[in-house]
Amino acid sequence: MKNIVIFASGDGSNAEAIVKHFAANDSIKVKCVLTNRINAGVHQRMESLGIPTYNFPKEVWCDANEIVRFLQKENTDFIVLAGFLAKIEIPIIKAFTGRIINIHPSLLPKYGGKGMWGHHIHEAVIAARETQSGITIHYIDEDIDKGEIIFQASCEVLPDDTPDSLAERIHALEHRHFPSVVENLVNGLD
Ligand code: GAR
Repeated sequence: MKNIVIFASGDGSNAEAIVKHFAANDSIKVKCVLTNRINAGVHQRMESLGIPTYNFPKEVWCDANEIVRFLQKENTDFIVLAGFLAKIEIPIIKAFTGRIINIHPSLLPKYGGKGMWGHHIHEAVIAARETQSGITIHYIDEDIDKGEIIFQASCEVLPDDTPDSLAERIHALEHRHFPSVVENLVNGLD
């Protein structure tokens, strides 16, 4: 059995897509979700799916050694960042090198880095009159949004798009691809 732990800060629609994808899988399991926001919508979504969530305050995420111990206690094999909006500190990266991935709602390296998350990205893409946007799934390393790219998929940006309408198209793309990319990577672990 391989155990996935998801980190999330927001609504949790990607976490839900991943949990549902593995619901009938006997060899891969979503063990729990860790958050940095007690009010994040992901708590409610996971409650209705029977997946435990654990919230840790900022100081714990910053020090990160307690998070590593927690992950080891949960027998974590793979970490998935699904809308997790805080920096991953070095102790976690070192303990799980090559076993932490993130999804980013743009075609990296465009629209990545500090301050580029969620609607800020879609606003910037529309302001720049891009005709294409998309999603990037990448490994986490010490530089924000710069880890090795694993998968990208693109979609159109329409002339009358708002940040909300573009976000909806991007979310659909994420839900379609993210769970199977995770499955392929977990299946490839030793
Ligand atoms: C997703 O679109 C994800 O790509 C983005 O946050 C959203 C979370 O949605 N992540 C980032 O912007 C990371 N820089 P969700 O909570 O409904 O899964």
